[in-house]
Amino acid sequence: MINGNAKEAKHNGTGHLAWLNTKQFRMLAVTKDYAEFFKRYSVAGSGKVLSTAENEILQAAREIFGIDATRTEEGSDLPHIGLTAVNDGSVDTLPGSFAVKVSGHSIAIIGADELGVLYGVYHLLRSIGSGKSPANAATRQSSRVELRIVQQWDNLREHIADNSGLIYHGSVFYKNQEIVSDMTQIKDYARLMASVCINAICINNVNVNIEEARFITEEKLPAMARIAETLRKYGVKLFLGVNFASPIMVGGLETADPLKEDVKKWWQDTADNIYRFIPDFGGFVVKADSEDQPGPFAYGRSHVQGANVLADALHRHGGILLWRCFVYNCHVDWRDRKTDRAKAAYDNFMPIDGQFASNVILQIKNGPIDFQIREPVSPLFSSLRKTNEMIEFQIMQEYTGQHRQICYLVPMWKEALDFDTHIKGKGSTVTRVIDGSLLDYKHSGIAGISNVYGDKYWTGQPMAQANLFGFGRLTWNPQLDSGEILDEWVRLTFGSNEKILGTIIPFLLNSRAIYEEYTAPLGVGWMCNKGMHYGPSPDAYEYDRWGTYHYADREGVGVDRTQATGTGYTAQYNKPVSDLYDNIGTCPDELLLFFHHVPYSHRLHSGKTVIQHIYDTHFEGFEKVEKFVEDWQTLKGLIDDDYFNEVNARLQLQIEDAREWRDIINTYFYRKSGVDDEKGRVIYR
Ligand code: GCU
Repeated sequence: MINGNAKEAKHNGTGHLAWLNTKQFRMLAVTKDYAEFFKRYSVAGSGKVLSTAENEILQAAREIFGIDATRTEEGSDLPHIGLTAVNDGSVDTLPGSFAVKVSGHSIAIIGADELGVLYGVYHLLRSIGSGKSPANAATRQSSRVELRIVQQWDNLREHIADNSGLIYHGSVFYKNQEIVSDMTQIKDYARLMASVCINAICINNVNVNIEEARFITEEKLPAMARIAETLRKYGVKLFLGVNFASPIMVGGLETADPLKEDVKKWWQDTADNIYRFIPDFGGFVVKADSEDQPGPFAYGRSHVQGANVLADALHRHGGILLWRCFVYNCHVDWRDRKTDRAKAAYDNFMPIDGQFASNVILQIKNGPIDFQIREPVSPLFSSLRKTNEMIEFQIMQEYTGQHRQICYLVPMWKEALDFDTHIKGKGSTVTRVIDGSLLDYKHSGIAGISNVYGDKYWTGQPMAQANLFGFGRLTWNPQLDSGEILDEWVRLTFGSNEKILGTIIPFLLNSRAIYEEYTAPLGVGWMCNKGMHYGPSPDAYEYDRWGTYHYADREGVGVDRTQATGTGYTAQYNKPVSDLYDNIGTCPDELLLFFHHVPYSHRLHSGKTVIQHIYDTHFEGFEKVEKFVEDWQTLKGLIDDDYFNEVNARLQLQIEDAREWRDIINTYFYRKSGVDDEKGRVIYR
């Protein structure tokens, strides 16, 4: 035990509180060093967010120390916690910045604004919960990432990710096909988000049906205003997904052509009205000309012409338009081996770089295709220079085990953020592109497709809370380490018992690599079932229209994206990255099949042949899951039974599904290649 004593260490949390289960911080030895401070607090400044911060201190005092903290004078000599929303010059001026200063008689939380104080309070609670001493809680923080947004893929029918079949049932925002009026759960969600510095949420799916298109009408805006008010107390702004064809769908116009005056006026009037209800409305998220959603192409207009009309309508109110770059042809002919979906975002957006209004941010998925377990980073980050851009991650594990399997995604997001685009020479990381510092952008941001759908644990598999937590922590500070984030999450969620830490951390930290081992190999992606995107089905997309192929035949597998013989996709990167990927000799093993079509006998840098690598990783990945399921059993009694059982039940699904992946992929490649496993393990024929 690092903190507390082993006897008391049983985790007794409720899933709903997630990492904010402050009651269980009581068991930590370090709390005694904070107890005196929590007897009193002072407040300088005023406002709703500051009141939230004050309430958090009061609640923590009760839950951790069992006391009612009393309000005292600012600058009191008695031990206290000072909340100050007046920047004394010691804090950065960026919104949400804060400092925590610890002296003999006070813990001073100074914010650049009210939000900074709230973030400082959550920082303090995290520090206590992860066993840090007051001296180690002292800090000074700010974030260059302006917009830290989660985006729900919920729709009013409570189906999440409807376009591709059901991933989750349920929603925090919609019940019985109505927008919820009881704000309790929304408030709790806002609190969770603010506690990891998320400052915006889009509450509906990017595929906007008629029901959600109505969210921006007079009829639905009062309900939206109620949600916005709840979020506001936590410094979270409301965004809405809108349909490009809204002028027709809900406006009664005959066209949505962005160059028509009545269409422009409709968007302006609509924005004016939204801001009457919600003065701090964040803005719109738009998926246009993508997967059959309407867009400017229908009118022979460009994405600049389309986006700028919506952006202008928002601009005078300070709103922002998040325009997605997930634009590609989803009706390709599988016989055509030259058309490459990976090239589409670049081809669509590079020619119009610099022409978007200043309040547009292009929202770009981390990879060029669609949230596969392994993809290279989208080349748009290596090429756009004049348009605000942000990265879009998928917290929801659509292709990475959904709400059943454990797959801690922070290491994958870190890889993307740390990727060197070379756009302004060496060291031009994606972080520096999307935080606006490298190319001097007006706006910056990170978006994450939310994995929250309002079940008892918010995220189905309770361990998936680590992804939500990690996403928030990373948006605030992309430099944080994946392991550090995970360590903090485990301590806050399950307590600081060594056995718990030593069991959960190593597996989760490796879980992305393990998932990759037993699913589609070496960056090839797309071997999942169609529609639902869960479970193995190697050829499900192979003869379909979606542009997602692996081209496995009896000789080999992979997509040739080289310049000499393939689709030429590698040219979308800057040198030396383009050469690195283009050259089969230097292409990293884990992306080999994304960039090259190779024979099964091709030797990887690891020394193994491709086929042997496939067999080995599939057997080993499965064994690692099996081992974790055994290890998990040893935690029984140490953590709350409900939590234990919920994780366990989903682990049983994970192991069954991992077995299915292992055997189907191994058999598939054995049948294609006819090559035996060197180690003679069981491959079904
Ligand atoms: C994936 C997903 C869709 C989603 C789309 C998007 O294709 O399956 O449901 O709409 O991504 O990002 O727009």
